Amino acid sequence: MSATSPAAVVVLAAGEGTRMKSKTPKVLHEISGRSLVGHVVAASRELDPEHLVVVVGHAAERVTAHLSSGDAPVRTAFQAEQNGTGHAVRMGLEELGGAVEGTVIVVCGDTPLLSGETLAALAATHDADANAVTVLTAEVPDSTGYGRIVRDAASGAVTAIVEHKDATDAQRAIREINSGVFAFDGRLLADALGKVRTDNSQGEEYLTDVLSILREAGHRVGASVTADHREILGINNRIQLAEARRLLNERLLERAMTAGVTIVDPASTLIDVTVTYEPDAIVHPGTQLYGSTHLAEDAEVGPNSRLTDTIVHAGARVDNTVADGAEVGPGATVGPFAYLRPGTRLGAKAKAGTYVEMKNATIGEGTKVPHLSYVGDATIGDHTNIGAASVFVNYDGVAKHHTTIGSHCRTGSDNMFVAPVTVGDGVYTAAGSVITKDVPAGSLAVARGQQRNIEGWVARKRPGSAAAQAAQAAAQDTNGES
Ligand code: UD1
Ligand code: CA
Repeated sequence: MSATSPAAVVVLAAGEGTRMKSKTPKVLHEISGRSLVGHVVAASRELDPEHLVVVVGHAAERVTAHLSSGDAPVRTAFQAEQNGTGHAVRMGLEELGGAVEGTVIVVCGDTPLLSGETLAALAATHDADANAVTVLTAEVPDSTGYGRIVRDAASGAVTAIVEHKDATDAQRAIREINSGVFAFDGRLLADALGKVRTDNSQGEEYLTDVLSILREAGHRVGASVTADHREILGINNRIQLAEARRLLNERLLERAMTAGVTIVDPASTLIDVTVTYEPDAIVHPGTQLYGSTHLAEDAEVGPNSRLTDTIVHAGARVDNTVADGAEVGPGATVGPFAYLRPGTRLGAKAKAGTYVEMKNATIGEGTKVPHLSYVGDATIGDHTNIGAASVFVNYDGVAKHHTTIGSHCRTGSDNMFVAPVTVGDGVYTAAGSVITKDVPAGSLAVARGQQRNIEGWVARKRPGSAAAQAAQAAAQDTNGES
């Protein structure tokens, strides 16, 4: 634990978020690959607190289920009725057994841009100044709706936070606002919460009142002003949701560029917080990188590609492609216009070309599927070429079956591989074949009807037609030449 590790972080997430006009609770809306509350929890974890508790209320079951899924379940406290932020913190502390010894950080579940660094800086200031409470504030262009920071005219010390609805005109003119993030002395917080009243315009227990209560009791009250007011943007509606996504996306792309990734057009590129990359990867316009996607050195993706949980190895090229749960080997090429579904693994220098769909398929080193094909439930060896317009017929209407094709094969165009079927190494197949039986190594497989030409059929069956006239002209030309 670092010197500034707090005893507890309490995240407030019990509110409904009516202005989202959504069946989904506000804090479960997602930006950049995480729920709003997920971002706040991640930033809180950077402080390495002894306890972390999220106060839930509205749609508590859904929010709790979300928080307890994944590898690091989060403890929750239940606030049955939303009686205000002060009441919510009380519920959080009750879950932790009442008063907590040491620093307690309180954050709101709807501020996804808040960084771990900012929280750590707040905790450090709080410790260094030995405050009873330190509030994180910001100067904002428009303070409408926020609690205003009231300071003593002479000393500049913070004396109170006044909610917008309770503020006088003079107080409403103040542009320094309460971010909703605080560091408290745990014991003093618990005492003061017991003294918070509800005689305000909303009839709620305001957490913000703790500040003046502590000050009046003679304790030290401090404030820490954020450098970047956008970090404390609270999400109340879908416009703010989009704005937060834009800002966070910008931050994540800047992080990628700083790490050596070329982002050709940041304005048209989306990246999740969970995406990883190596220097000299290149991302072209109109590209979305989601989930656990990884771009290795010199990997080049886009334009217009959507990669979800997909690994692109060094020097691979992915163009105009949708890929989900796929792995693209070093130097492999994909697209333009390919669809790689879960379980696709392309070996080194392999190719999935234009209008090619793959699913649950392992494609060997240097093997190419260049044009217009579906490869599902298959294993293909190394240095094989699959002819254009081939289909791996994997589904008989009841179950899926597997096709195995060896190395150094040359399969003809328009082949159907009717699974289960195995094609040996070094095999050639004829164009238009429907392969239903295993093919031994080194064979040529021909599986199609013989061609039969019925001469003079058009003149007899379609006399006087344009086709018949063309045939007659062709016959005369041939006769004239000879
Ligand atoms: C609150 C602050 C305000 C500050 C603003 C910053 C109070 C009284 N006001 O106002 O000074 O400028 O945040 O965004 O603290 N919540 C609960 N239970 C409740 C009420 C709220 O868990 O009973 C949660 C909400 O889910 C939300 C957070 O607390 O995550 C803030 O509540 P909200 O109603 O949005 O407060 P504001 O009016 O925005
Ligand atoms: Ca709010």
